[in-house]
Amino acid sequence: MTITFIGHGYVGLVTACVFADFGNDVWVIGHTDEKLERLKKGDPIIYEPGLAELLKKNIKAGRLRFTKSYNPAIKKSEIVFITVGTPPKKDGHADLSAVFKVAEKIGKNLGNHYTIVSCKSTVPVGTNNKVKEIIDKVKPNNAKVDVASCPEFLKEGTALSDTINPDRVVVGSDSKEAINKLLELHQPLGGKRVVTDLTSAELIKYTSNAMLATKISFANLISFYCEKTGANVETVLDAVGLDKRIGRIFMNPGVGYGGSCLPKDIKALIQTGKDIEIDTSMLESIDNINAQAQKYFIQKILQNAPGKNVAVWGLAFKPNTDDIRFAPSLIIIQALLSKGYKITAYDSQAMKNVRKVLGNKIKYANSANEAIKNKDALIIVTEWNEFKQIDLNKVKKLLKKEYVFDGRNIYQPEKMRKLGFKYFSIGRKSVL
Ligand SMILES: NC(=O)c1ccc[n+]([C@@H]2O[C@H](COP(=O)([O-])OP(=O)(O)OC[C@H]3O[C@@H](n4cnc5c(N)ncnc54)[C@H](O)[C@@H]3O)[C@@H](O)[C@H]2O)c1
Repeated sequence: MTITFIGHGYVGLVTACVFADFGNDVWVIGHTDEKLERLKKGDPIIYEPGLAELLKKNIKAGRLRFTKSYNPAIKKSEIVFITVGTPPKKDGHADLSAVFKVAEKIGKNLGNHYTIVSCKSTVPVGTNNKVKEIIDKVKPNNAKVDVASCPEFLKEGTALSDTINPDRVVVGSDSKEAINKLLELHQPLGGKRVVTDLTSAELIKYTSNAMLATKISFANLISFYCEKTGANVETVLDAVGLDKRIGRIFMNPGVGYGGSCLPKDIKALIQTGKDIEIDTSMLESIDNINAQAQKYFIQKILQNAPGKNVAVWGLAFKPNTDDIRFAPSLIIIQALLSKGYKITAYDSQAMKNVRKVLGNKIKYANSANEAIKNKDALIIVTEWNEFKQIDLNKVKKLLKKEYVFDGRNIYQPEKMRKLGFKYFSIGRKSVL
């Protein structure tokens, strides 16, 4: 098939590469010359394991083209995917301006044949119908178009395998022809198929992200109980999670969720709920608990760190990505800077992006060990694998004061006690 993706971020670029690799003829439309030039040369712009290799392979095979122009990509395409960003507005609603802008351009450039326009961007209920209205107003008379919602569920860090082997492929449309064509395109992918209407497909994505955020905030709420009562949150959640109706996966206490999806999608769901006069207090609590988890961790550092010269390990919002959008690290670092802390940070992929935000307000180290040399404390914010089994005897020697604040519970308190650390983690007794 000939297909087009508009937007080449974490969703657009990954899915374009995967569908090109299955033998489709894929166009990717962007709006920034510099980024498009880099992509044409096989530089993926973002960090995602395995992406650079897949990108180069499919450019070389002639199956993947990058362009700023909607013509001829849209005219030739049977399916056009919208994968532009839907960032939060100040009031929490999703900013859909990029979606509507590209919808108009798609409409104007449609060929005189049947085309499906499908939104992979996360958009509130009703957006795809608006996309259809916009396209219908400007499309050529002979062009026949259907809209569909194919929400994307990939996770940054494992985006390629998630795309190839998802838990489910959701296809929502009011057109049977569009559904059949989209199922045909997705045929090589794993996972269950969910065929539904446009509105349900749009809501499935927000419901998924709200449930994931709920699991994290619930784990954090229980960690607050544990800290006040002396219980161990990991033991409590392990036992609770053994109940098959509940499960343990994603119920992780820590410094809260960040990234480009959960924070904005919870806020957008709250706002659209308010618009249709639904009581959204449960969702608001989830969002508030997330902010509290970050606040409590910062307080723990301010109350217990023996000095203000500290190291931070992990800046990306999660391991295996360079994405720092709404990353807890930025909130924690900014709070500490405002209290006069000096910070040296280390992250194998995300330092370049953090430098764009914080510049030389903090120092950047070339390795985990370099970051902690002579520091008053180590603060762990992102649980990259390289920190999990690092030589802790060496860590103790390099630090000036043997204080570790672990925002992701990657070490065992008993082991830290034996090694002689002062160790503060989440929802577990501190080692003093
Ligand atoms: N990142 C994820 O893990 C993930 C997972 C599932 C769904 N989503 C959703 O998918 C959408 C995209 O997310 P992302 O993380 O890929 O975002 P991103 O910011 O990485 O990428 C967005 C892309 O859209 C492009 N773009 C913006 N305006 C444009 C315009 N007018 N014309 C052409 N291109 C334009 C940008 O240049 C960029 O390439 C969002 O709605 C997001 O919520 C993201």
